[in-house]
Amino acid sequence: MEQLDAIAQVLRHAKSVVVLTGAGVSAESGIPTFRGAMEGHWSKYSPQELATPEAFARDPQRVAQWYDERRLKALACQPNAGHFALAKIQEALLNNGASFTLLTQNVDQLHQRAGSTDVVEIHGSIVKWRCTKTHTSDEFYDPEPFETHPLPTPYGGVYRPDVVWFGEPLKTEDLALAKGMCLDCDVYMAIGTSAVVYPATGFISYAIDAGATTIEINPAETILSSEFSHSVRETSGDFLPELYEAAFG
Ligand code: OAD
Repeated sequence: MEQLDAIAQVLRHAKSVVVLTGAGVSAESGIPTFRGAMEGHWSKYSPQELATPEAFARDPQRVAQWYDERRLKALACQPNAGHFALAKIQEALLNNGASFTLLTQNVDQLHQRAGSTDVVEIHGSIVKWRCTKTHTSDEFYDPEPFETHPLPTPYGGVYRPDVVWFGEPLKTEDLALAKGMCLDCDVYMAIGTSAVVYPATGFISYAIDAGATTIEINPAETILSSEFSHSVRETSGDFLPELYEAAFG
């Protein structure tokens, strides 16, 4: 309770908030994590065998089908209480005149479906696919599987998932924005992320340099837990609604 009240107070008075989310935020929606997605006949593969440019070059049909199945799974899942509370926290902070930046490593679009706006999808999006020839990106919300894998585009190539694969760089503009906001924030929250993957690991250092209060929300300890001002050992679905009520309710 003391911890909740302390965090609520900090959030209520914040001027610039940055939130980084990861797979844990979607766990309560039933979205399998990266490794959890290797289900059924996919379990004989490792993520590295399917989520790389080399894998797509070698076997575009298999990779496109795996991502299309994950796309359908994400579309069939619903945002959970944590997603909704975060959208309400954003709205309350914006109404207070504060700035709010949501950086997500999730490709499932559940934040947007819960009402979050201006979400920075640093690892791309499962509903977006881009042409291998022209790099034109299109969105696919149809809950039916693609007719063929990979799907030909109207632009002369085939569609590949518009996500960041192992070995691919993040978009420079996303990185610059994330760094800039972290260096300028007074509250930084990492929610449902193990933060082992670059660049997420670096964001907290920028926030600490900025003198921000740093908050981790994760039922398990992470390699960065000791760096945070507050480590909340609860799920995002349990804690974020309580935090919203305590800070703005
Ligand atoms: P991980 O699967 O590495 O970590 C998920 C974290 O969520 C873990 O620390 C869990 O303890 C925590 N968690 C589980 N359930 C939770 C809940 N209900 N509420 C809050 N936290 C919970 O996922 P990410 O950190 O997102 O990259 O992984 C980062 C990136 O690594 C992914 O985006 C992907 C992967 O390689 C790419 O695809 C490029």
